[in-house]
Amino acid sequence: MFGWVYKMWLRLAFRMKIAKGWTFKGMPFIRVGGRDSRIEIGDDFTAISNIKDNSIGVPHRVVIRTVASGAEIVIGSGVGVSGCVISAAKSIHIGDRVLIGSGALIFDSDLHPLAAGERHGQGACAPIVIEDDVFIGARAIVLKGVTIGKGAVVGAGAVVTKDVQPGVRVAGNPAKVISYQERKNRNV
Ligand SMILES: CC(C)(COP(=O)(O)OP(=O)(O)OC[C@H]1O[C@@H](n2cnc3c(N)ncnc32)[C@H](O)[C@@H]1OP(=O)(O)O)[C@@H](O)C(=O)NCCC(=O)NCCS
Repeated sequence: MFGWVYKMWLRLAFRMKIAKGWTFKGMPFIRVGGRDSRIEIGDDFTAISNIKDNSIGVPHRVVIRTVASGAEIVIGSGVGVSGCVISAAKSIHIGDRVLIGSGALIFDSDLHPLAAGERHGQGACAPIVIEDDVFIGARAIVLKGVTIGKGAVVGAGAVVTKDVQPGVRVAGNPAKVISYQERKNRNV
């Protein structure tokens, strides 16, 4: 019941298009902030914000938000997310069938400028692209300007600072390739 009310609210408050088959377990936090900003989510989207609905729990509700004028988040079909943050000051594009693990953090801006005298302004931003069939492990962090190629796997706790080629597994901080398994399995 609350899911239906929440979807209506997203449509009325942010003019979001409500696609087919969205499942919210617990209440996500979805906000379109800034002028001319948008969030688009495809069919069959699942967002888990309840500790009981994920076997490793969730640290907080799913957060999906644009935070600056003109920012966009576009999420494909069949995507599943658990207790993660997706926050765009510029652009985050997520493909189809992507899975994003509990506590993962995806944000396309430094949030604050790096120069000491300017810390309270807007930080540098660069678009993030996560291609189809990517699996992002629990507590991973994906930083600005990164593209994660089709079918890649990002290990739990990885900090992704550079592009990830399609069909590889990466892990660690900074994330490095640990295996080419998906590339072999999927022929990507
Ligand atoms: C990344 C992952 C998928 C890799 O699995 P795998 O290919 O079977 O990797 P292996 O266990 O063979 O490990 C290969 C190497 O990577 C290292 N490694 C694996 N996962 C790692 C991780 N998350 N962080 C750092 N290093 C990791 C291993 O220690 C090993 O190192 P070595 O070659 O020096 O011995 C897996 O380890 C992982 O992180 N799974 C968690 C997924 C998850 O978060 N699910 C919850 C979603 S809600």
